[in-house]
Amino acid sequence: MDVIRVSGGARLAGQVHVVGAKNSALKLMAAALLAPGRSVITNVPRITDIAIMAEVLRRLGCQVSFADDDGADPAGGDGDGGAPRSCAVTIEVPPDPGTEADYDLVRRLRASICVLGPLLARRGYVRVAHPGGDAIGSRGLDMHVAGLARMGAEISGEHGFVIASAPRGLRGATIWLDFPSVGATENLVMAAVLARGVTEIDNAAREPEIVDICTMLTRMGAKIEGAGTSMLRIEGVPELRPVRHATVGDRIVAGTWAFAAAMTRGDVTVTGASPAFLEIALDKLVSAGCLVETRPDAFRVRLDRRPSAVDVVTLPFPGFATDLLPMAIGLASVSEGASLVTENIFDGRFMFVNEMARLGADIKTDGHHAVVRGRERLSSAPVRATDIRAGAGLVIAGLCADGVTEVSHVHHVDRGYPDFIADLRSLGVEVERATAPEEPAFTI
Ligand code: EPU
Repeated sequence: MDVIRVSGGARLAGQVHVVGAKNSALKLMAAALLAPGRSVITNVPRITDIAIMAEVLRRLGCQVSFADDDGADPAGGDGDGGAPRSCAVTIEVPPDPGTEADYDLVRRLRASICVLGPLLARRGYVRVAHPGGDAIGSRGLDMHVAGLARMGAEISGEHGFVIASAPRGLRGATIWLDFPSVGATENLVMAAVLARGVTEIDNAAREPEIVDICTMLTRMGAKIEGAGTSMLRIEGVPELRPVRHATVGDRIVAGTWAFAAAMTRGDVTVTGASPAFLEIALDKLVSAGCLVETRPDAFRVRLDRRPSAVDVVTLPFPGFATDLLPMAIGLASVSEGASLVTENIFDGRFMFVNEMARLGADIKTDGHHAVVRGRERLSSAPVRATDIRAGAGLVIAGLCADGVTEVSHVHHVDRGYPDFIADLRSLGVEVERATAPEEPAFTI
């Protein structure tokens, strides 16, 4: 079990490059299942979740290989910037891919559920382990299931599996989502592209990652209108062809650096992700006192005084991203004044607040609200990462603490941030990764 030890007091300065978005690349890999033959996805982050998704696809009969990503990653692989952060993934999809995703992989990568739509569309039958809840919330599947049922699928649950069948194929339908769920929108789009007739998804998610998937599917021959709006219209086609596609830049990793710059009163330029995908987050930083300059595919965040408190409300895109909530709490913890932070997406997202309290943060939660009273400095302590974003948030909070903060369970961070340590170092942070001594087992 590795830990990250980070020394407080650094002022982050320099440039950092962000590669493709985890939450896009995982689904692009699943989308490849929709066409037999060789698809290549580039600008894919080198993170654990991608390796697990590759294994999911291999067990479905695909051949998956990783190669260097020509020129897509200026930061890594140059001798002192750490390992390359991105890669190109080649996926050879057989004519009849398998139909089952097991619990041993799904429990490690809940996003495996996104093979449900493509496999049902291709094979007319699929059996995927139910991922259950996790550290950020209960995470239902009802909208995935109800949407597929509208398209003619019969769905049942048995022994922890979701089983869907449509022996006569899926048919177009009108689907109203109760909530603009990212995962449900993706599964339904990937099912609808091969269904007979027209599917309309109302109240669809509008995240840039959804647009990225729709762009890849359109290149594969799918007919999709309205990507990036809350009404998607998909006209099914009989078959799709494999493609080569570059993953959209990771707005959450980019946003993490933006908040880290503000929290440390630093000066950081982030390349590789569009600031247009972070408008509300960057605007919050401006309200906190930052100078923010934007270019089409890069932005710079500077602050040379203590940040001012700002209120934050998470919402589906284009609202403030829930995945940046730990960073917003971190910023609020060192800001001047009190901030009200409201979480509207996941019921367990405030779990990590207890770890922030160990760093001396003054946070009171009530339901989905948190009141954070800023302190001049935090105080270092051993803390535990509870999920990907909380892990990154705790490391960054450690930058504002006196002394050395040790964050354990950092395998969570590896799931979403390629070579986080090297990026921190390149921005001037004193940080190391170490293997934690094994905890003694107490027995009776
Ligand atoms: N929900 C339901 N029923 C459903 C689907 C969703 O109740 O059928 C609920 C969930 O329980 C949750 C809310 O709706 O409370 C939002 O869920 P959504 O489906 O939008 O999220 P997701 O697809 O499970 C993706 C990202 C998350 C990100 C959210 C919101 C991936 C692999 N994951 O999850 O990313 O927070 O969208 O933007 O794309 C992360 O990267 O660390 C991460 C958690």
